[in-house]
Amino acid sequence: MMKWFVLIFCVLLLVAFLVPFVVTRIENQQVQQNLIRLNEPQPESTNPDKVAVIVFSRSGNTAVLARHLAEKTGGALLFIQAEAYAPGLPGWVNAMKDARSKTAVITPESIDLSEFDTVFLGAPIWLYSPAPPVWQLAANTRFSGQHIVLFNTYNSHFEQSYIDAFETLVKANGAQSFEHVAVLRGRMGSQLSTEEMLRHFDQQFDWP
Ligand SMILES: Cc1cc2nc3c(=O)[nH]c(=O)nc-3n(C[C@H](O)[C@H](O)[C@H](O)COP(=O)(O)O)c2cc1C
Repeated sequence: MMKWFVLIFCVLLLVAFLVPFVVTRIENQQVQQNLIRLNEPQPESTNPDKVAVIVFSRSGNTAVLARHLAEKTGGALLFIQAEAYAPGLPGWVNAMKDARSKTAVITPESIDLSEFDTVFLGAPIWLYSPAPPVWQLAANTRFSGQHIVLFNTYNSHFEQSYIDAFETLVKANGAQSFEHVAVLRGRMGSQLSTEEMLRHFDQQFDWP
């Protein structure tokens, strides 16, 4: 009996160590693929004073969606960086640890959005909630009557209560209206391709 207990414990321990390595390996492949797209010359923003697309992305998927949004809207594309969550194992561990936090060290700390009418704010879902950097940016920002669109990519689940709390935050900070869109990419190993992800997004977003 004791022998089985030790064996099961060892297997569980092995899995607990292996999962982060496998996950970060897959993520790193996605980073490389997404960078090819993200490094392509960006089309000039034709509507920069109306629409801003701001994104935090760890492995590049939400960033590719943000770029697509900027192309569709002609808006200005801006990135939020958070060094603690850089691709790789330490970044993944930090991301897991902080996942439901609403605070993060971000660059830039805030963005002047006064000239924009519509602001798209994007981030991946971490442990059912939008990743901390987008909460931090929303907390640091004074909105001035804009329409805010929170957009997320995720693998399987998010929790609506976090989205509702995000709406409350941006409205308390001056946003006029709020909308949420999210693309379900599927679990690792059976995820949508980038093209499929963008198509799924377009199907559910009510483009003007
Ligand atoms: C720390 C961490 C926690 C995650 N938690 C969830 C989760 O709760 N639900 C989910 O569907 N996906 C979860 N994911 C998957 C990401 O939301 C998904 O892969 C996303 O598309 C990644 O976006 P990015 O490439 O822009 O970083 C998690 C990923 C990480 C790194």
